[in-house]
Amino acid sequence: MSKITAAITAVGGYVPDFVLTNKVLETMVETNDEWITTRTGIKERRILKEEGKGTSFLAIKAAENLIQKTGLDPKEIDLVIVCTATPDMKAAATAAYTATQIGAINAFSYDLEAACSSFLFGMSTAAAYIESGRYKKILLIGADKNSSFINYKDRATCIIFGDGAGAVLFEPNNEGLGLQDELLRSNGEGREFLQATYGGSSYPITEDTFKEGKHYVFQDGKTVFKNAVFNMADVAEKILKRNNLTNDDISWLAAHQANKRIIDATANRINLEEEKVMMNIQRYGNTTSATLPLLLFDYESKLKKGDKIVFAAFGGGFTWGSIYFKWAYNS
Ligand code: UT7
Repeated sequence: MSKITAAITAVGGYVPDFVLTNKVLETMVETNDEWITTRTGIKERRILKEEGKGTSFLAIKAAENLIQKTGLDPKEIDLVIVCTATPDMKAAATAAYTATQIGAINAFSYDLEAACSSFLFGMSTAAAYIESGRYKKILLIGADKNSSFINYKDRATCIIFGDGAGAVLFEPNNEGLGLQDELLRSNGEGREFLQATYGGSSYPITEDTFKEGKHYVFQDGKTVFKNAVFNMADVAEKILKRNNLTNDDISWLAAHQANKRIIDATANRINLEEEKVMMNIQRYGNTTSATLPLLLFDYESKLKKGDKIVFAAFGGGFTWGSIYFKWAYNS
């Protein structure tokens, strides 16, 4: 009997309508389009403006897009995982609300959080359930409303992040397609360099910390940059090597969209031509958990059955990793 593998069989996505351009950011903080473009590759990002709407709004829209495209009956979904660093609220899982709203009434659901590596790690979780034979249809969503914890007076962070969501369906495959191998890592010594300190259980928000804006995200960009370049390239190179793959074998690199320079460095390390590097950072910025599924959403029409994709991500924590994947369908 052939081994069951875990394939992605459908993709959906959503970004909010409001576009925050570099030109508008120039009027908000001391920055300029040229600096942002050359240092990050970002031209614009999407922001969810409507009051009272959080990450679940984005997640629901992305899931509904997938359901609409494929005609999937949400009652058949076994599990909904929402990968996010910005849940709607504490204690109540964003995934539970999302699942109910999309009609996945027979599913259980939970959130998964590993900062910018959330979706990558979620792919591992979803695949393990499928490979074990325990569940047949898993909706894996990456969604973040980063604008909810960004200080729009801090030029070190507000130029980078955006809001968005992507969703994929994981199902069993008997042709050997889907997840092939993974190399996932973390190092908690890195957490001081990228975090939203106050608002978690270690540091509850007080009147003073609120006034000082310590609930906003903080990043020591240079340190995170160095670690991201080194580690993302390292795991991508290692996963290729141990699967006896060369650059010619790889169809696509789908790397977390945090900075074009980090993505280019990873592509260079594995000698991958520019045409094979998925890129949409110029339009969305860093959408944290949503970058990888939004890449699949944007590139879906170009993907062919059997395409070999290297996924890679790096994020707060620190967390990082790479997944080697075979695409399962032509659209
Ligand atoms: O997704 C999770 C993982 N996150 C990442 O991977 C992000 C990693 N970090 C980065 O992408 C980059 O470090 C940044 C884009 C955040 C910053 O780029 P950088 O090339 O590392 O710049 P820098 O922080 O070293 O700053 C260089 C200069 C400084 O001025 P001086 O000291 O050279 O005079 C900054 O004050 O650029 C200045 N600067 C800016 N200038 C215009 C910093 N931010 C800005 C800005 N506009 N927004």
